[in-house]
Amino acid sequence: MLRTKIAGMGYYVPEKVVTNFDLMKLMDTSDEWIQERSGIIERRYAKKHEETTSTMGAAAARMAMDSCGVNPEEIDFIIFATLSPDYFFPGCGVLAQRALGISKKEIPALDIRNQCSGFIYGLEVADQFIKTGKYKNILLIASELQSHGLDFTTRGRNVSVLFGDGAGAVILQPTEDEDKGILTTHLHSDGTEAEVLSLINPGSHCGYHLGKEQFGYPDIEYGGAFVTDKMFNEHMLFPQMDGQAVFKKAVTKFPEVIHEALKTAGYSTQDVKLVIPHQANLRISQFVQRLLRLTDDQMYNNIQKYGNTTAASIPIAMCEAKQEGRYAEGDLVCLAAFGSGFTWASALVRF
Ligand code: UT7
Repeated sequence: MLRTKIAGMGYYVPEKVVTNFDLMKLMDTSDEWIQERSGIIERRYAKKHEETTSTMGAAAARMAMDSCGVNPEEIDFIIFATLSPDYFFPGCGVLAQRALGISKKEIPALDIRNQCSGFIYGLEVADQFIKTGKYKNILLIASELQSHGLDFTTRGRNVSVLFGDGAGAVILQPTEDEDKGILTTHLHSDGTEAEVLSLINPGSHCGYHLGKEQFGYPDIEYGGAFVTDKMFNEHMLFPQMDGQAVFKKAVTKFPEVIHEALKTAGYSTQDVKLVIPHQANLRISQFVQRLLRLTDDQMYNNIQKYGNTTAASIPIAMCEAKQEGRYAEGDLVCLAAFGSGFTWASALVRF
């Protein structure tokens, strides 16, 4: 039976560092508030007109391919996870394919829309294709450019201080080594509270879920109803979040899904070298660490430097943790995510 190994990995973060003090010039916030509530000290923002979600994803992909000696021409499937795509459509998968110069190969490119859990959703999809022998070199990219779409006034401060830009990528290959690679993955979702953390406009909902009056949709049968004047005038084109509701759900689902992975594979928390959680909020990670009784050495956090980069946060953290020697060949690493949808997921990987 084939297993899927993470053969290579790479990441890309934009050069521009934005500190909490920089944000204080734009809105009523403070370094103390941001650090105390989220742990974030700074984040990176992409260069306008020069960097996009797909170009950052392609940069991370090049590093991932270089790290394992795979040429772009050898990639036989692309999976791209993001909540901040370059275009409404087509998805970033084909744009990354073009940026990597492999469009002529006509390989499939699949786009994944699972927000903070997108990378692990992509990992499970890739794992299935590798195990069946269908593909041999899958490029999984997770990339986010959030800074262009945030509300940098005081009105949007509960969301805008948290998020940052960046990308991560992995190359997935088959291995016959039973003890190596992706041991188990677990995906979940619950759409009951889909709007609690969301960017609903522009969209095709036309007020269906929440009442059309609220969005100023004109009373005409066809056309003209994607973006309304009211959305512009009343600042309804930004992400929204009930932070406390997200926090409460996250601290329940993170431990649950980590336990699920460990139990399925027959391990306990003591066996894990490193837990790499989606970097949602340092307070969430610390809460989860305490609940699971993990040591500081067993928990990885880099949200202090990058903020929450949604789908990209796990592969960025995986790369940095490896560079820092926090895990090595043969170690057991647990990845876990929770985010908008709600969606949550885990994966247990033996490197
Ligand atoms: O990948 C998943 C992504 N999302 C998350 O992980 C979010 C999870 N939730 C959280 O991390 C926290 O709920 C936040 C960090 C977002 C907020 O922390 P909180 O302790 O839940 O604060 P709150 O929303 O209850 O707001 C407390 C106060 C409010 O003022 P009043 O009403 O008490 O006067 C807010 O208006 O803090 C105010 N506030 C801010 N003040 C300064 C909200 N954002 C800011 C800000 N700076 N950036």
